[in-house]
Amino acid sequence: MKLDHPEYNYKVVQQFAVMTVIWGVVGMLVGLTIAAQLAWPALNFDLPWLSFGRLRPLHTNTVIFAFGGCALFSTSLYVVQRTCHVRLFSDKLASVVFWGWQLVILLGVITLPMGFTSGKEYAEYEWPIDILLAVVWVLYAVLFFGTITKRRTSHIYVANWFFGAFIITVAILHIVNSAVVPVTLTKSYSVYAGAVDAMIQWWYGHNAVGFFLTAGFLGIMYYFVPKQAERPVYSYRLSIVHFWALISVYIWAGPHHLHYTALPDWTQSLGMAMSMILLAPSWGGMINGMMTLSGAWHKLRTDPILRFLVVSLSFYGMSTFEGPMMAIKTVNALSHYTDWTIGHVHSGALGWVAMVSIGAVYHMIPLVFGATAMYSTTLINIHFWLATAGTVLYIASMWVNGLIQGLMWRAYNTDGTLTYSFAESVLASHPGYVVRFLGGLLFLTGMLFMTYNMFKTIQMAKKNTSDTAMEPAA
Ligand code: HEM
Ligand code: HEM
Repeated sequence: MKLDHPEYNYKVVQQFAVMTVIWGVVGMLVGLTIAAQLAWPALNFDLPWLSFGRLRPLHTNTVIFAFGGCALFSTSLYVVQRTCHVRLFSDKLASVVFWGWQLVILLGVITLPMGFTSGKEYAEYEWPIDILLAVVWVLYAVLFFGTITKRRTSHIYVANWFFGAFIITVAILHIVNSAVVPVTLTKSYSVYAGAVDAMIQWWYGHNAVGFFLTAGFLGIMYYFVPKQAERPVYSYRLSIVHFWALISVYIWAGPHHLHYTALPDWTQSLGMAMSMILLAPSWGGMINGMMTLSGAWHKLRTDPILRFLVVSLSFYGMSTFEGPMMAIKTVNALSHYTDWTIGHVHSGALGWVAMVSIGAVYHMIPLVFGATAMYSTTLINIHFWLATAGTVLYIASMWVNGLIQGLMWRAYNTDGTLTYSFAESVLASHPGYVVRFLGGLLFLTGMLFMTYNMFKTIQMAKKNTSDTAMEPAA
């Protein structure tokens, strides 16, 4: 089969799509390893570079920036060409962005297990890598917005608005939060101090969630859900309201990560109030995506790709309901420091981010490689059930653990002493850790099926192309 749009640059889309799956497997394998270490601590093997403390940031950086990042690069560069009816602004720049991003990730994969870290969550890379990341990101912005400027359509489709906001905001967050005084090539200190440092870090951290893990993936949702369902988006007007409401509210919610700390009390209350308001735009977007399926619900019976996309929206709705509840100070007094937070994170990360990316990659792979369809729909179906069961096991076990921990830690005897020691709460958490490990194992197994299915599809497409090339001209 010939490519449907040979005039577009699909090479960079192919590269990022393949790396999405590969980094997904790597990042989740590291996630599974640390999940196993929490259940069976002997697996730390007394080796510093295999210890939980070093592998945890390796997991978060690989799944967020390598897996999630590659998914966002491949989809945004695909969507911008298809909706603007124009080839990417520059092929050379596209190639620099691809290789530059892989270099950033590779340097992280090497330095984090070695113990080089800035100590800021989700911003652990040391300053030379941070500078490289900033340069690659700015080039990506030039590539994306350069293509928008060249567009042949009069309007800019809403998915590009979300991608655009994600690109601009992540640049600002990264540059401001990474401002440091370098001491050596591998050690630096933040230019901010005390409570201000904490505030900047969680302004970054929360908006990394809001713009990296949410706005970008909403861009994916706004293109791929209507495409896969073969329906126009439910309400274009709602999508514009959704966009402006989401980006103007998200940026204020960061202090909910710092309840009951040295941060001024009013900032904590403001963060709480903004988080609760955030429920409205989040659900507005979720409903817009869901309602796009009106009249096409029957397709869910036969189309596992659509199932990935729709289930991702349900998890998005769930985690954006749970988040505002956890932002309420009295609820946070129970949930903070417990596995409830970890459950919330993964209902967003596995249920929303990973599932919507998986659905989009399954949609794109045959189109950008020139195959008629994915090699096996049965394998996609198996993957869907493994991913759904894995996510449910993961988050349910962490909710149970979170409640057990929170309640045990706040139980007092009549004489004011603690009812339980910390070690007793760890013991009580063990069954949950084993169930979470099983959930992760299911999710990772699904990713391995996806890898096989993807390479078979690419092989099939290559064979088709060479067969077509050998056919005598008509
Ligand atoms: C097989 C799949 C996965 C497994 C088994 C897994 C496991 C884990 C474990 C064990 C932790 C440490 C929890 C703790 O410190 O108590 C963790 C943290 C984290 N994971 Fe995953 N993970 C998986 C997939 C993902 C994906 C796909 C993402 C993002 C797209 C993600 C994002 C995160 C984040 C952000 C944290 C830090 C949470 C926090 O600090 O509150 N994970 N993961
Ligand atoms: C309306 C939307 C949301 C709100 C208001 C919200 C709120 C919260 C709150 C209150 C916490 C706990 C903070 C703490 O006690 O330390 C939290 C943690 C977290 N949430 Fe959300 N959440 C939302 C959506 C999401 C989504 C969709 C994702 C993922 C895709 C996500 C990822 C995270 C992560 C990674 C953390 C852990 C941060 C850390 O401590 O390392 N959140 N969120």
